[in-house]
Amino acid sequence: MILEVDDVSKRFGALAALTRVSFGVEAGQVFSVIGPNGAGKSTLFNVVSGLFAPNTGRVRFRGEDIAGLPPERVNRLGLAKTFQITNVFPEISVLDNVRVAAQSRAPESGRPSSLWRRPDVDGTVVALLEAFGLAARGEAHAKNLSHGEQRYLEICVALATSPTLLLLDEPTAGMTPGETRDATALIRKVVLERGLTLLLIEHDMSVVMGISDRVAVLHFGEKIAEGTPDAIRHDPRVIEAYLGGGDD
Ligand SMILES: Nc1ncnc2c1ncn2[C@@H]1O[C@H](COP(=O)(O)OP(=O)(O)OP(=O)(O)O)[C@@H](O)[C@H]1O
Ligand SMILES: [Mg+2]
Repeated sequence: MILEVDDVSKRFGALAALTRVSFGVEAGQVFSVIGPNGAGKSTLFNVVSGLFAPNTGRVRFRGEDIAGLPPERVNRLGLAKTFQITNVFPEISVLDNVRVAAQSRAPESGRPSSLWRRPDVDGTVVALLEAFGLAARGEAHAKNLSHGEQRYLEICVALATSPTLLLLDEPTAGMTPGETRDATALIRKVVLERGLTLLLIEHDMSVVMGISDRVAVLHFGEKIAEGTPDAIRHDPRVIEAYLGGGDD
């Protein structure tokens, strides 16, 4: 197991956003978390990535207890996350967005200014932008990219930190069905090529069923099911939660 979430609970005041959630992700798997709006999916990612400390429970990444560690520390251990709402620096170029992330993981990091134009950093950056079809947009300000391009840029930023575990929170949110298909195929390809483990939150069930090795279902902060896509599709509790519990 590369990631073990063990009995994690997270409260916001009186609201139990996560209640005793446990699951494990094997190295190389695509593991998806689904559930109706407000089920606790993003909260779970925020706990795993160090943004929130859990109230109870443990999170182990490659055997190390990371619950409550600050996000930068968790990132340095090899875990990177994108946000549900696109989170890039709008006023700097596409290249510089990815460079900033890449230099945070460059070896022998000295003064940032000395790293800024390092050829090894730029090689990584250009390869990433090429993989996501953004190489020709390198000099553009991030704010001038299309919505879909900004979502890709955010994935590039996460990958530039050389993670072993990548967390994507609804990477296809706001995309058309055609863009969603393309994005899913691309994410799958990049994840496979790099031998990454992927933990994914995704609304689009066709995406989830097509890409995942395993799926966990959250409902009102509790895990109500976990299994292969096929088992999940036919699980009566899951069907009930989706039909009765949300607007999905
Ligand atoms: N920082 C916060 N402070 C207070 N309440 C929060 C906070 N973050 C999330 N919540 C609440 O916790 C619950 C779970 O929210 P979360 O964003 O994790 O759900 P989600 O499954 O990601 O939903 P969606 O599908 O809409 O993205 C919701 O009731 C939400 O309002
Ligand atoms: Mg969410």
